[in-house]
Amino acid sequence: MNATKILGTGSHVPNNVVDNKTFENMVDTSDEWIQTRTGIKSRHISVDENTSDLAYEAALKALDAADTNPSEIDLIIVATVTGDYFFPGVAQLMQRRLKCRNVPAFDINAACSGFVYAMEIADKMMKNDGYRKALIIGAETLSKFTDFEDRNTCVLFADAAGAMVLGKSDHPGVEKVILHSEGDLEGLLRMESYPLKKDFQTIENKRPFIKMNGRDVFRFATTALPSVIRELLESTETNIEDLDLIIAHQANKRIIDKAAKSLEFPSENMYLNIDRFGNTSAASVPLAIDEAIQKGRLKKGMRFACAAFGAGLTWGGAIIQY
Ligand code: ACO
Repeated sequence: MNATKILGTGSHVPNNVVDNKTFENMVDTSDEWIQTRTGIKSRHISVDENTSDLAYEAALKALDAADTNPSEIDLIIVATVTGDYFFPGVAQLMQRRLKCRNVPAFDINAACSGFVYAMEIADKMMKNDGYRKALIIGAETLSKFTDFEDRNTCVLFADAAGAMVLGKSDHPGVEKVILHSEGDLEGLLRMESYPLKKDFQTIENKRPFIKMNGRDVFRFATTALPSVIRELLESTETNIEDLDLIIAHQANKRIIDKAAKSLEFPSENMYLNIDRFGNTSAASVPLAIDEAIQKGRLKKGMRFACAAFGAGLTWGGAIIQY
């Protein structure tokens, strides 16, 4: 059978924990508002670790869990919107630090859906082109682009990395991945870049920041998440009762609760860790998968779905047998 499966996972977050009270001194907000409107209690914000540092630690743990030497890796994909540099990519930094061979390594930008996109690319390259072991990572230091004077965004975003080693297998693992993107909605959520230089003048003090229409993204997400899960179920001829767990992008607990209700899926089987990590964009799904495995919520042989949405707007999901 031409299949790919999860060989191992790992994750890493910065040591620095920031609770909701901290934001009360920075913007007009409250611990109570943040908890009830988002489900977030605290998050990890990096002080001195860049995206590649978080990704490296997560990758080491995933390789260890997969009992895989870096020399065996023949494909490296990093999903991130907050790389250390515009170029080179975080994937090349991983390749150098892990001492991997001369193999394809590249970053992709699909915002919070990035890890699911990376999974689809790795899965198809392995099934079609003979790659045998892929290291895929979702890693972000969103705090670099967070405006800590904007209460609409600063309480939400945080830093983390999650990694996975996917390997060729004779048994089913990644069963189906579905991806979507709707460019007409790109204006709802943006991380600005540096402005063009007019007449070669330097524009001082212009920093790029995340800007978001939270209300419209919320509305979109509550439809997109259950809809992509339904598509996955239909295309794999699976009943929702056959899923042991759903691991959704941790953007807002209320979005996840609404998805569970819409799918008539037990809310206790919707994995949640947003209370301790906030929204870590492309790191969110692999961080949650790794934590679910570490805590014994996701056991060998179980079938689960993961789903994410984010800037673009992009969304997608996968059904996987662990
Ligand atoms: N503290 C207090 N009040 C706040 C805060 C805050 N931190 N943030 C917003 N408010 C206020 C707003 O200003 C607004 O006030 P107003 O009525 O006087 O204008 C009020 O709360 C209600 O605003 P809403 O936007 O309707 O609040 P809502 O309950 O929808 O919660 C939130 C806002 C948490 C942003 C929610 O809309 C949300 O989670 N949206 C989805 C965001 C998301 O998932 N982004 C993911 C994309 S990830 C990626 O790709 C990087």
